[in-house]
Amino acid sequence: MKRFHKLKVANIEKNTEDCSLISFEVPSELQKEFDYIQGQYLTLKTEINGEEVRRSYSLCSSPLDKEWQVGIKKIEGGKFSTFANDVLKAGDFLEVMPPDGKFYVEVDSNQKRNYVAFAAGSGVTPIASIIKTHLTAELNATFKLFFVNQKASSIILKEELEALKNRFMDRFEIFYFLTKQKRNIPFLNGRIDKEKLEIIFKAICDTTNIDHYFICGPEAMILLIEDHLKGIGVAKEKIHFELFGTDSKGTDEKREKIAKTFKGKTCDMTIIEGGKQQTFKVEQGTGNVLDLALNNAADLPFACKGGVCATCRAKVVEGEVEMLLSYGLEPDEIENGYILTCSSIPTSEKLVVDFDS
Ligand code: FES
Repeated sequence: MKRFHKLKVANIEKNTEDCSLISFEVPSELQKEFDYIQGQYLTLKTEINGEEVRRSYSLCSSPLDKEWQVGIKKIEGGKFSTFANDVLKAGDFLEVMPPDGKFYVEVDSNQKRNYVAFAAGSGVTPIASIIKTHLTAELNATFKLFFVNQKASSIILKEELEALKNRFMDRFEIFYFLTKQKRNIPFLNGRIDKEKLEIIFKAICDTTNIDHYFICGPEAMILLIEDHLKGIGVAKEKIHFELFGTDSKGTDEKREKIAKTFKGKTCDMTIIEGGKQQTFKVEQGTGNVLDLALNNAADLPFACKGGVCATCRAKVVEGEVEMLLSYGLEPDEIENGYILTCSSIPTSEKLVVDFDS
């Protein structure tokens, strides 16, 4: 299991009015553990007003530069993002879990690949890392980025992207869409919708020529683009996405139904972690495996608690659960018994969940 390490904040720079880029100093003895792949994220942990708060943020730096930098956009009411933008300073220490995530494809310098990316707002952070890494390491690769923001001044990593465009002039194109600022080209005004996707895949991108698609942003945008790509015949193996949160409406209904079905039944739940076993008696149909175990003093890995990051992934060795969200898992992992414990509700008399598998 990955463990948190105390890392020093090497530098903080304001990238836009409400987004800071935070770089970490990784001591040489930890550099191997903190090696990462473009598109991965770090989970950060700190105490804010006496409460432990953890959040995952994508690395926007490239592993080729041996830098560890995340972009944190301040969101209204966001505990960690407000702390990171308003309180945190260079020289402070944060608890940081080594990089994780599957939002990438391996670099292959022998291939001539064409990539397309869609990003909205701070969704550009992993995409920037992916673009920089592939364009640098694959000398014949091309990238087209379709990037949605509210206004020109809120574009995160604008300077960095423009610098990449200058450096890879023939191989990198950016299309900026603005939702709260009108420009003369109607196509570039507003969110990406069905109509814009049709134009993009008729006039700008030839799907027969594109090897991989990366999408990062809110759920609705991801689903729209994913649906469109599948509809025009793009294989699902070529579509990669990273969610920034999920809509809980559907899961709330499902959760209530499960609670009713399993009301009054108990479960002997065993957690295996770090070679140790702990067994607790819990109720079926109520609460998720992760919280039930944490409430009983188990020390387990987690970050988003929203079925997105897969930090809480474990394997069901015996028994059954109902999994409400599984964005962070591949279909073959689900087939092999892996679950996201933060989104899985015990539904059998006995349950054994292994975090070491
Ligand atoms: S903690 Fe992120 S998916 Fe469970």
